[in-house]
Amino acid sequence: MDSQDPFRDSDYLQKNQYRDSSNLDARAALHRQFSTATADWQPWVFDLLRLEPGMRVLECGCGPGWLWRQNVDRIPAGCQITLTDLSPGMVAEAEAALAGSGHQFSFQPANIQALDFADGTFDVVVANHMLYHVPDLAQGLAAVQRVLKPNGRLIAATNGDEHMKELPLLVPEAVRQKVASWRMRGMAGQLPFRLENGRSLLAPFFAQIEQHLYEDSLWVTDADALVAYAFSMIKPEMEVPETAVAHLRELWAAKIAADGGIHISKQSGVFVATR
Ligand SMILES: C[S@@+](CC[C@H](N)C(=O)[O-])C[C@H]1O[C@@H](n2cnc3c(N)ncnc32)[C@H](O)[C@@H]1O
Repeated sequence: MDSQDPFRDSDYLQKNQYRDSSNLDARAALHRQFSTATADWQPWVFDLLRLEPGMRVLECGCGPGWLWRQNVDRIPAGCQITLTDLSPGMVAEAEAALAGSGHQFSFQPANIQALDFADGTFDVVVANHMLYHVPDLAQGLAAVQRVLKPNGRLIAATNGDEHMKELPLLVPEAVRQKVASWRMRGMAGQLPFRLENGRSLLAPFFAQIEQHLYEDSLWVTDADALVAYAFSMIKPEMEVPETAVAHLRELWAAKIAADGGIHISKQSGVFVATR
C-alpha cells in the first residue's frame, strides 16, 4: 500500500476522515442536491439486495446506515441485519438512527479484513463504496466469501474512471501548484476497486458476477457545495491555503453565474457477486 494514499490509510480513515459522517455528508450532499437521476441511489441499491423475509444480512463499511435509514419501510419481516464499520463513530451514528426502527439490527465496529462471524452465516453481504479503501482487498474478499452461505451474494457499489472527471479540469494550474501536496477529491486517479476492474478482482472468490450501472450526472448551481466536496478528503497535515480555496470559490461562482450551472459526469454502479 502507498502509505501516502489517504484512500487506503486505515488509521487516517478511522480516526479522521470517517471519525463521523461529516466528510461523507459533504460529498453526499452534492449528489443529493444536484443529481439529475430519476431514481434515488439508496432505493436503487436496495432493490438489488433482493431481500426476502428472514434473511441474514451483513453490511461492511455501513457508514451512518443510510442504506437502511432510507429504506426502513421496505425491509422484509424477520431479516436480521448486522451493521459494521471500521469507524466506531459511524457505527454509533447508524445505531442511534436505527436501533428503535422495529427491525432486528445489531451493530459492531469491524474491519472487513477480519470478520468475526462463523462460516456460512449470511445470505447477503453489502460493501458499498468501501472496497476501494481496503488495504488488503484479497483478504477482505476472502473473509466475505467465508461468512456467506453457499449461493449467498455480495452487493458491492463503486465508481468508474469517468466519475466526476470534470472536477480536476475545473481547477486552474495556479491553484494546483499552491496545493501540490494535496490531492483533491476526484483528482486521485483510478480507484483500487472500480467499475473497470471490479469483475476481475471479484472473480477468484465468486462463481457469478453481474454489473448494474446507475444513470446519473450533476448540474451544480452552488459553488460552496462544490468547494465542500472538493476539500472533503484531505489529511490534516496537508495545509491548503485559504487564498486557494477562496480563488476556487470565486471561479466556480462566476462559471455558475455565466452558464447557469456546472455539469459533472457520474459513473457509479453495483456488482452483484454470487458465491
Ligand atoms: C465512502 S464510506 C461509505 C459508507 C456507506 N457504505 C455508504 O455507502 O454510504 C466508506 C466507509 O467504509 C468504512 N471503511 C473503510 N475501510 C474499512 C474497512 N477496512 N473495514 C470496514 N469498514 C471500512 C469507512 O469507515 C466508511 O464509513
